[in-house]
Amino acid sequence: MLCGAPCPGLAASLLAEATRVVRGLQRGTAHFAKQAGPLLGFGCFVGSSLSLERFLAEERVFSSFSYEKAWRRCVLGSPPFLAEYDRLLEEVICPHLRGMLEEEDGPVAFYCQHPPTLRLQPGRSKQSRLLHADKRYGHQAGEVNFWMPLTEYTLTRTTLWIESAPGKGDFHPLEIHPGDIAMFHGTLVRHFVPPNRTEHTRVSLDFRIGVGQYFDPGWRMPGLRHYHPRRTIVL
Ligand SMILES: [Fe+2]
Repeated sequence: MLCGAPCPGLAASLLAEATRVVRGLQRGTAHFAKQAGPLLGFGCFVGSSLSLERFLAEERVFSSFSYEKAWRRCVLGSPPFLAEYDRLLEEVICPHLRGMLEEEDGPVAFYCQHPPTLRLQPGRSKQSRLLHADKRYGHQAGEVNFWMPLTEYTLTRTTLWIESAPGKGDFHPLEIHPGDIAMFHGTLVRHFVPPNRTEHTRVSLDFRIGVGQYFDPGWRMPGLRHYHPRRTIVL
């Protein structure tokens, strides 16, 4: 079941620059990975390097919902990380979206997932994210997805694959690097992540933003219990 209509002009995949905030997000992630990783069973850094690619992640962190919830608590318990995320929303993403909606008169509300989802994909693993579109998980046509890597694609060699339009089937990898952000219409556009065959851990941040009149913040897919909290930014 799907709510609303796709936002016009926002379905295309594109990149925006986030170099101003990506270092802070990487540092924040490394900080709580170092503190909470061994305590909560996510994994640990080996040696003195705090490069996220060097975090030795446990297999279960990629597929376990309980670990995803524990990670979310780590994110919520990290004010510096959240401050960088807020900067990203306020200074980069929402102004970018507002610019794409220049035909719209008056203020536009952006319903931003808060906190974002931070994902760890362990290296040398057969685990993958199967092909899906997010409408299956209660997302609406009036929201768009943002995906940004916090680790180097040149090391991890794994990334998100998407199709260029719903049902088109022309899947291609997002070969982007820390500081770049991919935007796509994940509610309708199918996507997946292949296994990470390298020894390096892949870390990425993703979130969705509901756009103005195209998004209904009160809508719930019948039967679905988990919904991401949102922060509203009006521009
Ligand atoms: Fe998805």
